[in-house]
Amino acid sequence: MRKITVIGTGYVGLVSGTCFAEVGNRVICCDVDRNKIERLRRGEIPIYEPGLEELVAKNMQQERLYFTSEVGEAIEASDIIYIAVGTPMSDTGEADMRYVMSAAKKIGEHLNNRKIIVNKSTVPVGTAELVREVVQANKKYPWITFDVVSNPEFLREGSAISDCMNMDRAVIGSDNAEAAKVIAELHAPFNTRIFTTDLESAEMIKYAANTFLATKISFINAIANVCERVGANVIDVAEGMGLDSRIGNKFLQAGIGYGGSCFPKDTYALAHIADKAGYDFELLKSVIKTNQRQRFIIMDKLRESVGGLAGKQVAVLGLAFKPNTDDMRYAPSLSIIPELLKQGASVRAFDPIAVESARRELPHEVQYFKSVEQAVAGSDVCVILTEWKDVLDMDLDLIRQIMKHPIVIDGRNCFDLQTMQRSGFEYHSIGRAS
Ligand code: UGA
Repeated sequence: MRKITVIGTGYVGLVSGTCFAEVGNRVICCDVDRNKIERLRRGEIPIYEPGLEELVAKNMQQERLYFTSEVGEAIEASDIIYIAVGTPMSDTGEADMRYVMSAAKKIGEHLNNRKIIVNKSTVPVGTAELVREVVQANKKYPWITFDVVSNPEFLREGSAISDCMNMDRAVIGSDNAEAAKVIAELHAPFNTRIFTTDLESAEMIKYAANTFLATKISFINAIANVCERVGANVIDVAEGMGLDSRIGNKFLQAGIGYGGSCFPKDTYALAHIADKAGYDFELLKSVIKTNQRQRFIIMDKLRESVGGLAGKQVAVLGLAFKPNTDDMRYAPSLSIIPELLKQGASVRAFDPIAVESARRELPHEVQYFKSVEQAVAGSDVCVILTEWKDVLDMDLDLIRQIMKHPIVIDGRNCFDLQTMQRSGFEYHSIGRAS
């Protein structure tokens, strides 16, 4: 049993802290946001993540998991301090490091015994050294020493708990073998492989992994766009490619591009890091550009299918950037819906979870409905932006009957072509001839 404090109760901090508690550690999750902490204490989870609410409640009840807004006290109470604060994209595209730096300052001010400071936030290479300098500069007791470790996270929203309990690998970067050993031991109860390296490489692994996955997505989307033009089917192409174990079959689903809180931010950030380091990362810039263009590909399909969007009723199925999350950050719907409205269409939206977050981000003209059926009723065309189960399971016969025109534009390739044809739809998807 270790005493761990996690600074930051966002996605990463909350999930990792809860999982560390679940395997028997005493974990204090702290945040400067008092309101959030109050809600967490009442068992209210600020994000939608399957299974998290139950796991938080269980570990609070068994007195392994605590929440506080007294960040200083929380730091003093533990030997291992995880920094899991946000590193949002700044206006320049670089990672905004202000929260990491203020956490480091606070740790310095409350360094009351020897501690291991672990960085879990996604940060530019060299941040561990910066954290070390800030902690050092703010220490109240000069004789107390500390170590800095990098332990980036690889959780996916929507499956974060199972990802945390069964990580493909835990990356531990350190310049001190003892500290690395402690953090490796912390991961022993998880079904994972430990990979230890130096601090800079650990920081780089996180960016390299995310940008590589983003590259796979942009690559298959570009292939999809060629497939459409030459009469090939991108789903078969991806399957055929993926059978080569050097390529693998994951992250080859063509669609309207990646969104979310990680890939857009991390691709921009790495392009900046490379630029600053004197390397023009053209490949990565092209991945970003391909992704930006991809979300608008369905606009052409929509326009052509209904002969211009002015005055048309468009049902939009799915608003979140992917299923099983209410996260709207960089969701394709945020680009597509304003464009639909601009071109004179009215928008009837459905999302099973993300409506509350969507209302804050989308223009007020958007109408929201509680079911797929209500959203599509009477619409001229329906566009699928997120592959929610409600969408995959929709009753195609019923949908065809209640739409004004049975036209489906599918940005996520949810259905097979024959099924849609048999069901009487005009169906346009990504990378497959209609
Ligand atoms: C991603 C990584 O998968 C995690 O390993 C990482 O820890 C996390 O970022 C992070 O840095 O915190 P996440 O953003 O939750 O996780 O979501 P993913 O499941 O990776 O999906 C990202 C986007 O790519 C979604 O918009 C999804 O629709 C899209 N995608 C994914 C595709 O378009 N095609 C695919 O084949 C796979």
